[in-house]
Amino acid sequence: MAPSLFLYWTPRAATAYRAARKRHTQAGRAPGACILIQETTPVTTRFDVLIQDTGERYRCADTRSLLEGMEALGRKGIPVGCRNGGCGVCKVQITAGEYTKRVMSREHVSEDDEAQGRVLACRVRPASDLQLAVIGLMRKSVCRPPA
Ligand code: FES
Repeated sequence: MAPSLFLYWTPRAATAYRAARKRHTQAGRAPGACILIQETTPVTTRFDVLIQDTGERYRCADTRSLLEGMEALGRKGIPVGCRNGGCGVCKVQITAGEYTKRVMSREHVSEDDEAQGRVLACRVRPASDLQLAVIGLMRKSVCRPPA
């Protein structure tokens, strides 16, 4: 029969377990009756993203790219290319907020661009609420008036 409970053992968990077991033993309980379950599921935080050009807002988890969050708007015209920082169609300018970024093609984002917050939405994840402006190839399709 397969086990129905998995425990992930880390040095921190081992220390917490030893402390709990010591308290358990000092309380006069049987040594084998102590179990420590530690939360192992990573906590996901969701942030508000404002597209300044259209006034649209969407929620984006810190585990997803700004482009994935934008796609979840279900809006036509969001250009989706390689999703890997190589084609440059998803270029945006971050105007406020914190974010984490992954490697982007220097063909589409220069070091100066990156320093100024001009990045590829598929390679950036929010680390706070943020605001962005669409630029480059993305601008034409996102800023098109709704049909
Ligand atoms: S989708 Fe190709 S660079 Fe973002």
